[in-house]
Amino acid sequence: MHVRKARADELSLLEKMPHALHYTHHLSFIRHALGTKECLVAEIDGAVAGFVVWDRGFYARPFLWMLGVDPDHQHEGIASTLIEHVESLNAGHNLYTSTNESNSPMQGLLAKRGFTPVGRLENLDPGDPEVFYVKKL
Ligand SMILES: CC(C)(COP(=O)(O)OP(=O)(O)OC[C@H]1O[C@@H](n2cnc3c(N)ncnc32)[C@H](O)[C@@H]1OP(=O)(O)O)[C@@H](O)C(=O)NCCC(=O)NCCS
Repeated sequence: MHVRKARADELSLLEKMPHALHYTHHLSFIRHALGTKECLVAEIDGAVAGFVVWDRGFYARPFLWMLGVDPDHQHEGIASTLIEHVESLNAGHNLYTSTNESNSPMQGLLAKRGFTPVGRLENLDPGDPEVFYVKKL
C-alpha cells in the first residue's frame, strides 16, 4: 500500500469513492476539499483504494473530515493506514473527527484506533446525531 497526496485531476475518481452514509453534500464537499484541505489517497497496485481529507480548520485543531475505502478493499487496514499517516503529521496534538451515530463501521474503526467520544451534535442529519471523537497523539 502506498499513501500519497491526491492530485486535482483525481476529483472525478474520488467523487465515486464511498463517503459517510448520510452525507448528502459529499460531492460538493470533496470538490471543495481538494482545493482547500489536505487529501491523501492510498494506492493498491497503482489504483486508488481509499482516501482521507483532513486539515487544521476545526478551531485550529487537526480534524478528519472525510474517509472512504473502496468496498473491494475494505477490511484490509486501508482506513487505519490513512489515519496513521494523519496521526504522524500531527504528533503532540489532539486529533478530532466525527461520524453519524448510525455509522457502526466508522464507530468500530475509531474505537479500535483509540479515539474516544467527546460529544454529540443534534440536527445536522435529522434523527442521526453527529458524534465527535478525539485522540491525543
Ligand atoms: C469506515 C471505513 C472507512 C473503514 O475502512 P476499512 O479500510 O475497511 O477499515 P480497516 O480495514 O482499517 O478496519 C480497521 C478496524 O475498523 C473496524 N471496522 C472496520 N470496518 C468495520 C465494520 N464494517 N463494522 C465494524 N467495525 C469495522 C474494525 O475494528 C477493524 O479492525 P479488524 O479488521 O481487525 O476487525 C469503510 O467502511 C468505509 O469506507 N465506509 C463508508 C464511508 C464512511 O462511512 N466513512 C466514514 C465517514 S465519517
